[in-house]
Amino acid sequence: MQSVLLAPPKPMITLTVDGDSVRVPDGSTILQALRKKGVDTPTLCYLENLTPVNVCRVCVVEVTGSRVLVPSCSRKVEEGMVVLTNSERVQHSRKLVLELLASSVDMSLVNGDTKRWMTEYGAEPEKFGEPSLPANAGERDSRHSGHHHAPEHATAETVAQPVMVDNDLYIRDYSKCILCYKCVEACGVDAQNTFAIAVAGRGFDARISTEFAIPLTDSACVYCGNCIGVCPTNALMFKSEYDMRQEGTWNESEQTVTETICPYCGVGCNIELHVQDNRIVKATSPLDHDITEGHLCIKGRFGWEYVNNRGE
Ligand code: SF4
Ligand code: SF4
Ligand code: FES
Repeated sequence: MQSVLLAPPKPMITLTVDGDSVRVPDGSTILQALRKKGVDTPTLCYLENLTPVNVCRVCVVEVTGSRVLVPSCSRKVEEGMVVLTNSERVQHSRKLVLELLASSVDMSLVNGDTKRWMTEYGAEPEKFGEPSLPANAGERDSRHSGHHHAPEHATAETVAQPVMVDNDLYIRDYSKCILCYKCVEACGVDAQNTFAIAVAGRGFDARISTEFAIPLTDSACVYCGNCIGVCPTNALMFKSEYDMRQEGTWNESEQTVTETICPYCGVGCNIELHVQDNRIVKATSPLDHDITEGHLCIKGRFGWEYVNNRGE
């Protein structure tokens, strides 16, 4: 008989969240404890299939004895920890993060949860003034660290700039980039290990870039599209979706999503085919799949055009 080795059970940790006792396995994050208790906690840079990078700080909570607010997505629970999620300090901090982001970034296509958090926290990005004029193509990419221009104060500084369209598979609209680093992680050690993109620059000039800001077609990119799959703001978008949005024909309410198996190789990745008007318009992959965890290769992600072209 074949024996199956099981890991020893983890000891349970008891902490207090908003006055209630919660028990989670040792090694859990505060966010996992909050989710177990059913506390709705905003997150932007966190995703189950990526390593937490703690850059957005919208998930912060107050921990008794801690001088500063702590990011719940990465901080591990400790025995006897006392966590507050709805204190004035927490609410104010989350609101300010959302306001600062929305004042400088085009958040019009963020996911529904983020739109709801903006409303629930009463974010008022417009209080920073009218957006400043967009940068010209390539201008932000050529800025050097430490050489900032003086802010005008009359307008809100933004990351607005033209959309980068340099290949037939996906576009990069960094006007919509909140610098969550998810695409960098997906392109790097968390999934693809290609390292085609990284963060360049510092401070407000920080931006996602290929090496020396070269076009994607000259970069190390292998077009797996895993960066698109994790982007929370649609800054990275299938070219098919971008073209349809430009034409005014993109209509998610009329789309169906069919889960199936990628036909190309024996790995058997699950793919979700988004179909509108009997044509596949994009392909995604479920985050909770044991093997792929939301990631695909170029064939599964983009290799469905032959279906659309049948009989044409
Ligand atoms: S498509 Fe894949 S290889 Fe190219 S930048 Fe995105 S994650 Fe990296
Ligand atoms: S392009 Fe998208 S995934 Fe990448 S840092 Fe910007 S918002 Fe995040
Ligand atoms: S979600 Fe926790 S720091 Fe961004």
